[in-house]
Amino acid sequence: MENQQHLSGRHVEIQHKVDLEPVGRRALVEPGMTLLDAARRAGVEIVAVCGGAGACGKCRVRRVDGELTPPTPVELRAFSALELAAGHRLACQARPLSDVKIDIPPASLSTPQRLQVEGQESEVAVDPVVQPVDVTLVPANLHDLRSDTVRLTDALAEQAIPRPFFDQPVLRDLSAKLREQDWSVRLALRRHNHRGEAVGVLHPEQALLGLAVDVGTTKMAAYLLDLASGHTLAKAGLMNPQIAYGEDVVSRIAHANRHSDGRHLLQARLIESLNDLIDQLCREAGVIHAQIVEAVVVGNTAIHHFFAGLPVRQLGESPYIAAVTEPLDICACHLGLKLASGAKVYLPPNIAGYVGADHVAMLLATDAWRAQKPTVALDIGTNTEISLAVDGQLFSCSCASGPAFEGAHIHAGMRAAPGAVEYVQIRDDGVRLQTIGGKPPVGLCGSGILDAVAELRAAGIVQRTGRFQPDHPRIISWDGGGAFLLAPAADTGNNHDLLVTRRDVNEIQLAKGAIRAGVEVLLLEAGLTAQDIDTFIVAGAFGTYLDLESAIHIGMFPSLPLERFKQVGNAAGTGARQMLISAEQRRLAAQIIERVRYVELTVHPGFTTVYMDAMYL
Ligand code: FES
Repeated sequence: MENQQHLSGRHVEIQHKVDLEPVGRRALVEPGMTLLDAARRAGVEIVAVCGGAGACGKCRVRRVDGELTPPTPVELRAFSALELAAGHRLACQARPLSDVKIDIPPASLSTPQRLQVEGQESEVAVDPVVQPVDVTLVPANLHDLRSDTVRLTDALAEQAIPRPFFDQPVLRDLSAKLREQDWSVRLALRRHNHRGEAVGVLHPEQALLGLAVDVGTTKMAAYLLDLASGHTLAKAGLMNPQIAYGEDVVSRIAHANRHSDGRHLLQARLIESLNDLIDQLCREAGVIHAQIVEAVVVGNTAIHHFFAGLPVRQLGESPYIAAVTEPLDICACHLGLKLASGAKVYLPPNIAGYVGADHVAMLLATDAWRAQKPTVALDIGTNTEISLAVDGQLFSCSCASGPAFEGAHIHAGMRAAPGAVEYVQIRDDGVRLQTIGGKPPVGLCGSGILDAVAELRAAGIVQRTGRFQPDHPRIISWDGGGAFLLAPAADTGNNHDLLVTRRDVNEIQLAKGAIRAGVEVLLLEAGLTAQDIDTFIVAGAFGTYLDLESAIHIGMFPSLPLERFKQVGNAAGTGARQMLISAEQRRLAAQIIERVRYVELTVHPGFTTVYMDAMYL
């Protein structure tokens, strides 16, 4: 409690501290104020489509510590007894009775705030494969004519370090560095079989850094880490430039097959953009490229092959075979990446042609791979990879969910930017929209279109088959299938009617049907039903922000109590960082592969029936 009633005879109002996690902000509130008021006071935007009237159920938070007013009738309707017991509350209803700590799940945070909590530090013991060794050599003179490498090796022997391997790119730097730095250097030594390999030559005061990259089909995220502490120094993101050659990996493979230099072009574009990201990270952290002595890159199998310069033709043709599934170490200089002269890029193992190292990284970061109770872990993207862990075994598959959740192929689709509708509520008295930044609506981002379809279905405006009820006053005729008027032109930020079309609903049906069918087929393989799922992990940018209730409502996810779901953000990026700072994590990644049974959906006898069912809303 911050203050007491009477100090020096003056009345001072009691205030309670409200700690808002994971954003790490604090507000002081007077009695009677709600958690939503507290969040607003602290500048934390909680999703509140109904403006705090208790009607939308979107402002969900969880009490971690402290005392709140008892649940209101609205909350008793919104939550199960189990959820209430676990501390789930509506921020607009609950009022602090003491100092409290609350946890705001990603789905209850507005987009700009979510981005702040993305990319949280991973908690693994720091043990990178590259270590620094500081050495000072006896300068060369006419009576001591040992070569630079022999001189260096002899100095290392004094520290009981065996002779390392020197590759040509490092040798190109070594002699000049020794002389410029008065024969004192920090050698970056990488574990290489029983003997180390020198991968960089630095000044003794320069820290060794590492680069972790998650290359998605649409976006790339890069992180610069200090290899001694494991801390992230800078992070940056960019669109994947390969989009110009196809929205999904299948069309990019087709492009590579059609053009003699197609594969090289797609590789070159990726490397160019990665070099831009590296420049940006170095500027931000005030470091030089030569300090980055190791990198880990994760992506799906096709991206992995493009990046590594491997053939992709066989990935695009049945039976969709990966050229390699084992982990690879590739010299950054062979790829044209601007890192330390001898730096290696570690590419973790792939699972199959359409389940890649990014999924392995996600399983590693979430620990889903060793779950004993049935656990589903999926990463929603243009391609959605799904794993079901049970009793230490993993069943994995991949399904083509398309780019609808990225806003592509949606009439008013847009990326999550100011003015994008994030949440939708449709009631008899009208339509309420919440947009990013509170701006007038101009389009729908992934979570917005998902919410819109769920609300249209709940309001009975869309039928199970995806058809509109033609007699609703907001249904207009549009392109043969009709459209729902979400906001008239006069209320939008671009003077265009904001519509959800029949085709949009169909795109969502295809996407969600593919995801649900993937989950159901894995359950069939494991002899389980959806109700057996103990934990349902949703990773990836879109998956983190979607409204779980909407996803359940349209049948994309099975109907499970909300507390069984975990929305974990960019877990592939976290897994890549773990493998960057820990050799042990690389060993664990190899173990994950051993436990996987890959299930090819296209030939699974139950898939077509399950998929047709899963398309219904
Ligand atoms: Fe709390 Fe709508 S803001 S229920």
